[in-house]
Amino acid sequence: MTPGFKTLTSTRRAAIAALLAFGLSAPAAAQTFPNRPITMIVPFAAGGPSDVIARLLGEHMSRSLGQQVVVENVAGAGGTAGAKRLVASDADGHTLLIHHLALAAAPALYNNLGYETKKAFAPIGLVNTGPMVIAGKMTLGPADAKAFFDHARKQADKLTIAHAGVGSNSHLCATLMSQALGVKFAQVAYRGTGPAMNDLVAGQVDVLCDQSTTAVPQIQGGKIRPYAVTSAERLDVLPDTPTSREAGIAIDMTIWHGIYAPAGTPDATLDKLNKALSAALKEPSVLDRFKAVGTSAFPQGDWTRAAHAKRFADEVDKWAKTLAAAGVKPQGLN
Ligand code: MLT
Repeated sequence: MTPGFKTLTSTRRAAIAALLAFGLSAPAAAQTFPNRPITMIVPFAAGGPSDVIARLLGEHMSRSLGQQVVVENVAGAGGTAGAKRLVASDADGHTLLIHHLALAAAPALYNNLGYETKKAFAPIGLVNTGPMVIAGKMTLGPADAKAFFDHARKQADKLTIAHAGVGSNSHLCATLMSQALGVKFAQVAYRGTGPAMNDLVAGQVDVLCDQSTTAVPQIQGGKIRPYAVTSAERLDVLPDTPTSREAGIAIDMTIWHGIYAPAGTPDATLDKLNKALSAALKEPSVLDRFKAVGTSAFPQGDWTRAAHAKRFADEVDKWAKTLAAAGVKPQGLN
C-alpha cells in the first residue's frame, strides 16, 4: 500500500484501487495463469471421439501448463449444452471447450442457442481432422458397401441408424447418407457416439457413421463391419474399406476439432494455451495415436489462433449456406 493511502477518503481510496486494478489485472492474471486445474468441456458422452481426443491432449497440455487439465463431459442437444456451459464460464482460461464442426453448424440448426456463435468463443487452436466411417453391426446382412447401400435403398425405414443428436457429426453424416440414397432411416439419438458405438457393438442398433477415431479400433477388433469411409482416399489403417465414392455414393465429409475459451479471455492467456496445444501436437506419442486411428493433426502452418478463428468463421458461413440450400430450417432447442 502507498504511504498516505490510509489518510485518503474512502471514495478516493476506492477510485485509486479501481485504477490500479484496471491497469494491472489483465497482465497480472495472465502471468499467474493457470493457478488451478483447467476444465476441458467435452460436449458429448465419455468414450466418444471428442472425449478420446480431449483426454489425449489434456494429458500433454497438463505437463506444459503445470496444472491438471480435467475433462468434463457436458452432453446433450447435439453438443450445444456443452457450448452453452463454456459461454457461461469465467473468461479466465480455466474453462475450455473442445468441439468440432457442429459448433459452427449449430446456428443453422437451432434458433435459440442463447449465444451469438461468431462472438461468443475465443478460438485457441485447431486440433485434428479426419473422415467418418459408415459401419454396421456384425449381424447386419450386407457384407460390403455396395450390398449395404442396395439394402438401405430398399429397407432404410427398417434400419436403425444411431447418432449423437441433431447437428452432431454422426447426425450430419446420417443426413448426407439419407439424401444421397433418397431414403429415410429410423433414427436413434444418443448423448454421444460413445454410447451409440456400444449399442452398435452389442447389436442394439444397425448402423452408425462415426469418426475414424473410435470406429477404427472396433473394426480392427472385429466388433463392427466397416462399409465405407467419407474421405477422398482410403485410410491407410483400413485399406480394404472403400471410399463412399468408390461404392457409388458421394458422401464427402471431413471433420475437425478445435479448442475454445469464452470470448473476453485475455490474449496472453490464449497465447499460453495455444503454446501448450502446439506442444502437444508435436508429441510423437500423440501423432502416433492419431495415425493409428486414421486422423491427423492440422499442418503446423495452421496452428495459430488466427488460422483457427478464420476457419471457424468460414465454417459458420459455409454451414449456414449448405443447410439453408438443403431446406433445413433452424429449430428451437428442447
Ligand atoms: C462424440 O464425441 O460423441 C462425437 O463427436 C459426436 C458426433 O458429433 O457424432
